Amino acid sequence: MAVKVAPSLLSADFSRLRDEVKRVEENGADWIHLDIMDGHFVPSITIGPVVVKSLRPHTEMFMDAHLMVSEPEKHIEEFAKAGVNLLTIQVEVVDHLDRALRKIKDLGLKAGVALNPATPASLLEYVWPLLDLVLVMSVNPGAGGQAFIPEVLPKISYCAEQIRIRGLPTEIEVDGGVNRETAHAIIKAGATVLVAGSAIFSAEDGMQLISEFKKI
Ligand code: DX5
Ligand code: ZN
Repeated sequence: MAVKVAPSLLSADFSRLRDEVKRVEENGADWIHLDIMDGHFVPSITIGPVVVKSLRPHTEMFMDAHLMVSEPEKHIEEFAKAGVNLLTIQVEVVDHLDRALRKIKDLGLKAGVALNPATPASLLEYVWPLLDLVLVMSVNPGAGGQAFIPEVLPKISYCAEQIRIRGLPTEIEVDGGVNRETAHAIIKAGATVLVAGSAIFSAEDGMQLISEFKKI
């Protein structure tokens, strides 16, 4: 099955976000990936629920919010109200992972967990049935345009195996350094959703990548 492509808005022109969202939608993107950074879990600060809410009426795309924020539990309701479809929280900063995932699902959203490059996927052993998505970070979070960390490839395969064993529909999303050179190995390892920021928004022929990824 073709992978889903989720362009990361982080590399878009922030002075015209609505047009940038429309541009990737017209070029066949399945999801729009929203990188939410708080200046605490990661040094950068990006956008919050106010901006997400204002974009919601302008796209049919599935909104995939990646929370790179400390104490993510505090923000779940606000992002649900803003209209995101999937909320992914970083496992490194959740005190009560099971509770947080159930809260996201109780609000009618899909729930995801993100793992930093050094974080083992074995942490997910008892929550797999709650996960609609596992986000394998293939760069250290905080900025676009970084190089792919190949050591995460076995983690993608491990996740694929855990999902297969359990017969779950959980998606495996890979985020960071995804481009023409790295996509094949990522898909081969088991990714079902590719996030790409700089490769799509910063390259002249970046929009073509959306359909190219789907043909791999
Ligand atoms: C990094 C973000 C990514 C980022 C990816 O912290 O989570 O979504 O936008 O950017 P590229 O595709 O440029 O590596
Ligand atoms: Zn992201």
